[in-house]
Amino acid sequence: MATIKKKALIIGAGTGGYPCAIRLGQLGVDAMLVEKDKPGGVCLNVGCIPSKALISATKLFHKAQHATEMGLSFSSPTVDMVKMQAWKAGIVKKLTGGVATLVKGAGTQFVTATAEFLGPKQVRLRYADGKPDDIVEAEHVVIATGSLPIEIPGFKVDNKRVLDSTSALDLAAAPKRMVCIGGGIIGLELGQTFQRVGTQLVVLEGLSRILNGVDGECADVVARQIKKDGGQIFTNAKAVGWEERNGEAVVKAEIDGKVQEFVTDVILVAVGRRPVTKGFGLEKTGVKVSERGFIPVDQRQQTNVPGIYAVGDVCGQPMLAHKASHEGEVLAEVIAGKKTINDARQIPNVVFTEPEIASSGLTKEEAEAQGRTVNVGKFPFSVLGRAMAIGETAGFVKVITDAADDRILGVHIVGPEASDLISEAGLAIEMGAFAEDVALTVHPHPTLSEALMEAAKHALGEAIHIANPRKKAH
Ligand code: NAI
Repeated sequence: MATIKKKALIIGAGTGGYPCAIRLGQLGVDAMLVEKDKPGGVCLNVGCIPSKALISATKLFHKAQHATEMGLSFSSPTVDMVKMQAWKAGIVKKLTGGVATLVKGAGTQFVTATAEFLGPKQVRLRYADGKPDDIVEAEHVVIATGSLPIEIPGFKVDNKRVLDSTSALDLAAAPKRMVCIGGGIIGLELGQTFQRVGTQLVVLEGLSRILNGVDGECADVVARQIKKDGGQIFTNAKAVGWEERNGEAVVKAEIDGKVQEFVTDVILVAVGRRPVTKGFGLEKTGVKVSERGFIPVDQRQQTNVPGIYAVGDVCGQPMLAHKASHEGEVLAEVIAGKKTINDARQIPNVVFTEPEIASSGLTKEEAEAQGRTVNVGKFPFSVLGRAMAIGETAGFVKVITDAADDRILGVHIVGPEASDLISEAGLAIEMGAFAEDVALTVHPHPTLSEALMEAAKHALGEAIHIANPRKKAH
């Protein structure tokens, strides 16, 4: 057993850990990144990337079926899920393979092994190939161990009838029927993916609305699409168990106090994720873990133990890849001795449903809860030329501004390409922009981005292509 000395050791090569490792290498810090599985974490292997591949393929299928209005008719399109999965796997392989190359290229050592704390700054590495263990002693240790799906009683994931997001992403054929437990991000993204290729979808959501935390009006647009495509959504519906009956699965759910049954082929459990803080000796470090299992950190990503840091899902909500990467990059600069802190004003949230939802900053309710009076500008895609020309007119852009000075507090988009449109809002909020800044920025025509410009104008009472209920004092 050899002892290796390093300035920094990063545990976990997901979207928090690997950018941290690359940035440390760029900054000339002697660092090692250790990963027990394939690099890239949930995002690249079994999350963002593979799901977006299936989402875009099935959207294309759906669009082809509904293009008759544009004067296009195809012979009935068919789906070869096995081929689609192979295409998806190729993308994942390319991206995950690239991670190790990038890390090594930046000058950071990349090791495939299972890490376990022996003490605060001492970590044992176990290799799968039988090589003797190593001990790493590092001045700075980064915990980037990510999260796992939550399991609920009565729904043990067997990857046949009961699926989690990982096994749902690997289905070799679209099931005839799917009951999705949880009307959150994963449930709706994956539920709609299969719905577009013929699956009858039932969503059971325990709360009184789907996509809790997302602007309610945006969520309503997605709910309408799910229903338009033949799906059903039940809210205040708590799934309590299931049984096999006559070769079918029967899910039981308590809805408004009564038990209802849903016959299905597969059950997707998507009820949230939990941080990974157990099984790697964290208790030997003195690092505090919150009641909900997250590792609290300060603005330098440091835990309560000096020199031990955490980034990504393991240190709290929102559990998003881009939040993890930002934290990892900030932390690399902290370790390299720079006076950097994590002071991000906004972390965009994107839901890749049909249509997409994307938001940045505060909702109206959140801004009002802060005691602010707000103006709301809203521009519907139904009156935007480009949206009509691509045949995607559902949705709107909503801009929330502070009535005191017209500063942009939040932007909420539901509609085509919302996931890309939101970045302009992110920049605006990050730079403390006022509604005028976006309204007076000349946007190209004809594009979807004009909707954000018009919504900012609408918040000022100056929209050109819709009526302005608010009249600006001139
Ligand atoms: P979620 O927190 O978004 O939604 C889970 C839903 O399940 C909640 O609405 C909850 O009320 C409901 N629920 C819990 N127990 C239930 C029960 N027994 N019966 C019925 N409903 C029940 O969690 P989800 O969808 O699993 O996603 C986990 C995390 O992964 C998200 O919070 C997000 O951070 C991340 N993610 C992000 C994506 C993106 O950025 N596009 C895509 C996928 C995941």
